[in-house]
Amino acid sequence: MDFASQILKWYRKEKRNLPWRSTRDPYLIWLSEVILQQTRVDQGMDYYLRFSEKYPHVKMLAEASEREVLKMWQGLGYYSRARNMLFAARQILAEFNGVFPSDYEQIRKLKGVGEYTAAAIASIAYGQKVAVVDGNVKRVISRLFGLESTGNDLYKMVKQIMSEQIGFHSPGDFNQAVMEFGALYCVPKNPLCDQCIFFDHCVARKKTLVDRLPVKIPGKKPKPRYFSYLVINIREENNIVMKKRDENDIWKNLYDFPLIETNMTLSAEDLQKKPAWGACFGKEQQIRESSGLYRHQLTHRTIIAQFHFVDISAISELSLQDNWEIISLENINSLPVPRLIERFISTYYPFGV
Ligand code: ADE
Repeated sequence: MDFASQILKWYRKEKRNLPWRSTRDPYLIWLSEVILQQTRVDQGMDYYLRFSEKYPHVKMLAEASEREVLKMWQGLGYYSRARNMLFAARQILAEFNGVFPSDYEQIRKLKGVGEYTAAAIASIAYGQKVAVVDGNVKRVISRLFGLESTGNDLYKMVKQIMSEQIGFHSPGDFNQAVMEFGALYCVPKNPLCDQCIFFDHCVARKKTLVDRLPVKIPGKKPKPRYFSYLVINIREENNIVMKKRDENDIWKNLYDFPLIETNMTLSAEDLQKKPAWGACFGKEQQIRESSGLYRHQLTHRTIIAQFHFVDISAISELSLQDNWEIISLENINSLPVPRLIERFISTYYPFGV
């Protein structure tokens, strides 16, 4: 079986017509690959279109503020992708004269660009013979060749097979063909084996291992974190207090509200007894109302959040902390916020007022 020529033939016939497939601009290919790393095509498409329209050239991205870029990324998750892209765009201006680097080793020097992304850009934009390995590729190759290894061993075997196969063919298309095949046919659950061009050759199918490959190492159960948010309304000015998350933690540099984190859910009454509560206010304050519990699932964490409304009449009643910002309710939608906060705002402040 000539795997490479078969899959290329398939790709040329059945590939999806996606906007980043009609360009060889390394910057736009980079953008698409960063978005697609943790996001499905149907989810990432809008973001790609808006981002590439607003920042059509790497220089425009480099000149944008981090706040604006994070706002553009809002809802996609894994925000380090956006922070790193901005950093790397500035690197391209400072270290590469504004010209996107053109070989694998140089591309790899950009912040946040790992083996996968560098290989994708080098092969798709510049035709270099560097094989990609992502989740889709691992699934297709492990099934087709019947690889039962896990973790780094599997990665190395898949990389080896891909590197052998890429040699004689159009490398960018070959890489994309394998990924596309994993996205359309050789999908994780209920793959379309009956219609598969490799039906007669697939080792996993012949050994009835399709459902078991690639072998997964069981992940850890997500740990819960309990967030009690203080939604402090300053009535005199129709302002609200928000907090920039400047610690090294989830959602770095996005905005949420002053927060008391505990190791279990707390009643409003118990929350008001916490020393952290007293530290927020210059004089004693009471919770006016509390929201229900919000659950927000991240890869390794489950956030259980509750929002507590506190009305104060003037800013002097607060012990304002460094990373707190007073935001006019009219501007509440201009800040980059995690999806959890977006959900809260759209329920309680639907018009941003
Ligand atoms: N997944 C990530 N990048 C891809 C690409 N270029 N083609 C198909 N699937 C992908």
